[in-house]
Amino acid sequence: MTKGGTISCITFSHHKGGTGKTTTCLNVAGFLALAGKRVLVVDADPQANATMGLGIYPDSRRRHMYDVFMSVFEGFPDVPITEVITRTEAGVDLAPSNLDLVGVEPSLYMIDDRAGILRDLLEPVRHSYDYILIDTPPSMGQFVVNGLVAADHVVVTIDAGIFALRGIDGLETIFADISEIVGHRVTADLAVLTRWEQSSSIESIPTRTGLSGLLARLLGRGDPHSDVGANAARSAAAEEERRARIEAEVKRRFGRVETVPFSREVYEAQQRGLPIAQYAPESAAGVAYRRIAQGVLAW
Ligand SMILES: Nc1ncnc2c1ncn2[C@@H]1O[C@H](COP(=O)(O)OP(=O)(O)O)[C@@H](O)[C@H]1O
Ligand SMILES: [Mg+2]
Repeated sequence: MTKGGTISCITFSHHKGGTGKTTTCLNVAGFLALAGKRVLVVDADPQANATMGLGIYPDSRRRHMYDVFMSVFEGFPDVPITEVITRTEAGVDLAPSNLDLVGVEPSLYMIDDRAGILRDLLEPVRHSYDYILIDTPPSMGQFVVNGLVAADHVVVTIDAGIFALRGIDGLETIFADISEIVGHRVTADLAVLTRWEQSSSIESIPTRTGLSGLLARLLGRGDPHSDVGANAARSAAAEEERRARIEAEVKRRFGRVETVPFSREVYEAQQRGLPIAQYAPESAAGVAYRRIAQGVLAW
């Protein structure tokens, strides 16, 4: 979907909530900024999680993406995106969102050529940045369509914890529909499996502690050859097999797959209002997102 030029517009998408869109958007943004790139995050989700994740409280800003979108309607002030962009502590620029954005969507349906609105609104800043990253809401609506139409590249995120292949089927239907709207094929360049546990690690085999552990040892049931140990090893092996199957299936459908392990630093960083690149780059998720950002730099 590359439209030429030097900048790259990347949209993070999945119509379900909690799959790691915002987390992946912010953490890729953080590592791109750390690599010296000029990065803009566009928050196209009324929930404003990307805004808050970059340490900006929505109410602290006078203008938001709401105002930028509403500029396309007569009777509303003309607010170019340059007017809402703010620099964040991480060195990433942000076009913030707030709950008002909910009100934009019904109005957009009054415009015939609505799918390309965000793409057009980004035009004034396309050459001010190396990367524009668009975070989209967890619903199939105009913000997702607009995000995908504006994108040179699409990243889908899939939560391994609650994974269901049905989710991917839904996504493929959306891409097919959007391809029809924009008149060319829209596909994902990368799938990111978030909160991915390394189930092959020995820690994932539950060990018994305390009194029950002592009893088990006394009774000779603490070793992996006992029933408990063997059951644990079997369930770990089954879990590993399940994950290998998921990874293979996602790879088959999307070509490129990256995994990000569960890491408590992800949540801490969000609370602190910083991407993991600036908060805990050496954490397990930090290492994974650095690798993903390096892949993005090579696009
Ligand atoms: N690798 C990870 N480790 C730990 N928590 C994570 C990880 N990825 C995402 N999360 C958490 O999962 C929740 C949902 O992620 P989020 O990126 O907000 O999803 P979405 O934007 O798709 O709704 C957030 O609370 C986030 O902190
Ligand atoms: Mg989100």
